[in-house]
Amino acid sequence: MRPDDLQPLLTEEIEEWRQNLDWDFKGSADLVERFVAMHALMGYGLVAANRIVGYTYYVCEERKGLIGDLYVLPRYRSEEMENQLLRPVLDRLAEAPWVRRVESQLMMLTRSFDRILPFSEHVSAYPRTFMTVPLDSVERLPHGGRDIGITYQTWHDRFQEEAAHLISAAYRGHIDSEINDQYRSPSGARRFLLNIVQYPGCGAFYSTASQVAMTPGHRLCGISLASLVRHDVGHITQICVGPEVRGKHVGYELLRRSLVELRRQGCRKATLTVTTANETAIRLYRQVGFAPSRSFAAFVWDGL
Ligand SMILES: CC(C)(COP(=O)(O)OP(=O)(O)OC[C@H]1O[C@@H](n2cnc3c(N)ncnc32)[C@H](O)[C@@H]1OP(=O)(O)O)[C@@H](O)C(=O)NCCC(=O)NCCS
Repeated sequence: MRPDDLQPLLTEEIEEWRQNLDWDFKGSADLVERFVAMHALMGYGLVAANRIVGYTYYVCEERKGLIGDLYVLPRYRSEEMENQLLRPVLDRLAEAPWVRRVESQLMMLTRSFDRILPFSEHVSAYPRTFMTVPLDSVERLPHGGRDIGITYQTWHDRFQEEAAHLISAAYRGHIDSEINDQYRSPSGARRFLLNIVQYPGCGAFYSTASQVAMTPGHRLCGISLASLVRHDVGHITQICVGPEVRGKHVGYELLRRSLVELRRQGCRKATLTVTTANETAIRLYRQVGFAPSRSFAAFVWDGL
């Protein structure tokens, strides 16, 4: 496949992300084109009427496969067409002796639930919710978490190592570590952080709106990381608080600070995704004004 063959499809995908999610997908699309040009992307194209009408790509990371994207033009989109792309990817990954697990979160799938998927005996589907909040009145949210000596500051790269340990502690036994196995160890969380900071998959990392919370003993006890998914739309890519300070409004204050900073930088709204079963987090998000706008699924194939 050449970048020129893919380009019209990517243009339509960019438009669909803009219309449905208010995300600028161009950074991700450019990266796909660049890797295709270098013959460095593993994936498949779907051809109909002499043109590419769908594509998917995947990457391997240690013992895991990750399906980075799967997109079929709306007029060709169906479970069958999507499975024509998914099947060879999963076949290839299942053949690789070191890969046992495949993860994916595909926002543009025709139907996320009650659908037929290849290798269905290995798959678990976790409902996820896409939420959005307008930022016009975010500056009026009351301050929180002031009474227990926690201090807040802007993210700096020197926090990465402590943040990796915090993430693996915060997600121990958590449903999100069933979906993303990087949350299960500091080394996995380190890779997760690196991806967030370096690659555009979750938007362009925005350090000014990313906040950390410190205990009186100067230990990192909470983070809220933000990105820009469009010049005027922010995204919360990660929020977690250490188990020892939960329920003390630290998560609220981190989120409030991130949203206020996004607003100050000219964002009109913010988005995030959350596992639908994560009621604690959803309660917090609703409290600051987030509302659900779309459902999708995280799929995990295990024991391939
Ligand atoms: C979700 C998580 C970040 C929440 O952090 P937290 O510091 O424990 O939560 P908070 O104490 O700030 O918020 C909890 C409550 O305070 C409310 N709240 C806090 N300050 C407030 C204020 N000033 N005004 C109004 N409401 C406030 C919240 O909405 C929520 O409501 P509740 O009282 O009914 O419980 C934390 O549980 C966590 O790290 N979980 C594991 C990781 C995770 O799930 N992350 C989210 C992934 S999408």
